[in-house]
Formats: sequence, structure tokens, C-alpha cells
Amino acid sequence: MIRDMADDEATQATNNDASECKRSAVQLGYWTDNFINFFVKQPSRKAPEINRGYYARVKGIEVFIDKFIKITGGNGQIINLGAGFDTLYWKLKDAGNIPINFVELDFPNITAKKCYHIKKHKQLIDRLNTEDGEIRFSTTDLHAANYHLVGADLRHLSDLANKLKQAEVNFSLPTLFLAECVLVYIDSSATSLLLKYLAEIFSNSVFINYEQVNMKDKFGQVMLSNLRSRGCMLAGVQDCESLESQQRRFTINGWKSSCAWTMVDIYDSLPATDKLRIEHIEMLDERELLIQLLQHYCISIAWNGNTFKNFSTI
Ligand SMILES: C[S@@+](CC[C@H](N)C(=O)[O-])C[C@H]1O[C@@H](n2cnc3c(N)ncnc32)[C@H](O)[C@@H]1O
Repeated sequence: MIRDMADDEATQATNNDASECKRSAVQLGYWTDNFINFFVKQPSRKAPEINRGYYARVKGIEVFIDKFIKITGGNGQIINLGAGFDTLYWKLKDAGNIPINFVELDFPNITAKKCYHIKKHKQLIDRLNTEDGEIRFSTTDLHAANYHLVGADLRHLSDLANKLKQAEVNFSLPTLFLAECVLVYIDSSATSLLLKYLAEIFSNSVFINYEQVNMKDKFGQVMLSNLRSRGCMLAGVQDCESLESQQRRFTINGWKSSCAWTMVDIYDSLPATDKLRIEHIEMLDERELLIQLLQHYCISIAWNGNTFKNFSTI
């Protein structure tokens, strides 16, 4: 029990890493995010290969989010699982691309902190649409007209079901699930139950998953032992063995089809002008290290229903 709580704390602390890395890259001009500074006060400079890796991640995910918005004409919903301090809602809001509903879930410890930051910053709270001007807060949850932030453990499906209901989720709307570096922290059997449950109740949906891959090779084993030395047990790492294992976990759990790419493929597919621009931001001494990092992360997509059958082209 004490061990489990320590594991959960280490998992929650990964949100700080992700937010700090995003803040570092934004500070240097890799991409624009006018909101991350409200969640991370002290910028700490990261290595160039980390900044470039985050750029590929953010841009890669953005391509699929844009696709979803276009396909659904804005008449869909986005559910961000393990959202941490992600700022996607505010970025979409400023771009005029908000879907009908946007839901963020994370451990209550994390959502409580996010609620605090949102309450504290006018630039964040003013962008939460409300028809009647009312935003409902508890310590861990926030409900606005089309934005809901709720605390739930993704391993507990009845808890999740209850929170989805409170977030006014519509099960028949086209839905995009996003999980960035989340499932790797969840035991594979719990992820299987989660994926099965979501596939069953959201019959018209697409899932975007970003996380580690090729974890069985030498470099992957070093990454694993570094994370474990910081208390992160990576309970779901067995599904991060290869692109095939990443896809299989969807198709054996009720999802119609799946595709996956390493971040090398995603980086290569980015527009040449964008790559040229970011490659001039900082000198990269160890290009080999960047390639190795990109080879050990992937984006996988899985879908259900006909709306998303052509979703997988990059
Ligand atoms: C590496 S952070 C990523 C945060 C965010 N997705 C991003 O990309 O910036 C992983 C997040 O997953 C959340 N998480 C992991 N396991 C979870 C679980 N069982 N239930 C809810 N959230 C979970 C953690 O609390 C943390 O905020």
C-alpha cells in the first residue's frame, strides 16, 4: 500500500518534468504557448535534444488534433487522459478551434494544482466559456460550459465513469482521446480494461497515444533504469516493446484498427521549413543522441467507427 502510494507520487511528479520541458522549449522559441508560463514559473533550460524531441511531440500531436477538428467540423469532444498541466484547451480557444466539450482527467492531486493555477490567473479563467457566467469549482474539479477538469484515477473505471458523467460527456459524439506519456505508468491489465471500456461506450472515437517504444533494446533499458532510479516503475512498459505491441494493445481491446510511428518518422514528416527553423535555434552536438531519443518514443493512433477510418495518414 505504502509502496503503491510512493509509485503514484513518482508518477504524478512526471507532470513537473513534462511541464518544465515544454516551458524550456517555448522559452527558446521552438513553438508558441502563451499559457505554459502560468503553470511553470521557473524556466529551467533543457538540453537541445530534449527541446527538439518535445517540438516533434507537440507538433506531431497537433497535426492529429487539427485533423480531428477538421473532420468533425468542431462538433466533437476531446478527452485528455492524464492531462497534467497541458495547455491544449487554451491554445485551441485562442485559435477559435474549441470542440463542443473538452475534458481533462488526472489524479486529484494534480487536478487540484491545476484548478489552483486556473483560479489564480485571469488569462486562464477568462477563457473558460460560460453561457451563464458560472464556473463551478471544488478542490479538485472544475466545471465550465465546455471545459471540465476532473480528478480520477484511470485505473478505477467506476470512478472514471462517474467523472465522465459529471463532465457532461456525450457518448454518441465523435470523440478524441489523448494520452501523452500516461499509459506507460499504468499496469497493462488496467490499461486493457480502460481501453476496452472506452471502445465499448464511445463507438465513434479515435485515440492518440504518445509514449515510449523499443524499450527492450540497450538504449531503452538505460532509459528504463534511469526512470526506475527516480521511483517511476513504468508498470505498463511491456506494451512499449515495439510499434506492433503498441498497436496490438488497441486491437485486442476492442479498437477497430491502429497505426504507429516512431518519432523519427514523425520528425521526418514535419515541413522542411519548420525543421530548418528549429534546427537553427540551438547547436546540437550529439545528433546521434537525438535520433536515439526519437527512436524510443512513438505516436500510435487507434479508431472505432467510420468517421476516423482515414485518420492515420501523416
Ligand atoms: C508525464 S505526465 C504527462 C502530462 C501530460 N499528458 C503532458 O503530456 O504534458 C503523466 C501524467 O499522467 C498522469 N497519470 C498517470 N497515471 C494516472 C492514473 N492512473 N490516473 C490519472 N492520471 C494518471 C500523471 O499524474 C501525470 O500528470
